Amino acid sequence: MEFYEVLRTRRSIRSYKADPVPEDALRRVLEAARIAPSGSNRQPWRFYVVKTPEKKRRMAQACGGQTWIDQAPAVIVAAGWKVPTNRGGYIGEMSFVMDLSITFTHLILAARAEGLGTCWIGAFQNTEVKKILGLPDDENVVAVTPLGYPDKGGFTENTSRKPLEEIVKEV
Ligand SMILES: Cc1cc2nc3c(=O)[nH]c(=O)nc-3n(C[C@H](O)[C@H](O)[C@H](O)COP(=O)(O)O)c2cc1C
Repeated sequence: MEFYEVLRTRRSIRSYKADPVPEDALRRVLEAARIAPSGSNRQPWRFYVVKTPEKKRRMAQACGGQTWIDQAPAVIVAAGWKVPTNRGGYIGEMSFVMDLSITFTHLILAARAEGLGTCWIGAFQNTEVKKILGLPDDENVVAVTPLGYPDKGGFTENTSRKPLEEIVKEV
């Protein structure tokens, strides 16, 4: 699929078919996340693939009760850890959140190229998700997404965005 079409037609998908995600497609999506850039190439991330119904149900609860999340055959959780060295700028040791955002963006775009839906979930309870998945103390959740084939609605062109004239300034 052409890259700009991927960008234009990725949508947040909130309705999923029960069909499983083929293992080879899942692997390509995770591979896209793996090759993302990060500050000093530290790659401070780990991805958890949740497929069991009970864990998915608990995940949906831990994501503010967004119950549609557990319709998807898989839920991906990206967790990261602080990188101790000073990596410059005011963001400092919180830069792992930036690294995680980049890798997760790779992941959701690769998913779109595979015809798979995602919805970036920011409304999660970190401590609850850590408990459900048994994460180590030093890892914290940065992003969550369901992953599966879209049911109702599907992929459409993005329209609800500010125009370029409003967001770009020549200085
Ligand atoms: C950091 C972040 C957190 C988000 N959290 C949620 C969420 O908890 N629940 C949800 O339904 N959508 C969530 N979204 C999806 C946004 O609402 C969505 O990306 C935005 O409205 C634009 O729509 P689109 O993704 O279809 O282009 C989140 C998106 C981002 C980037």
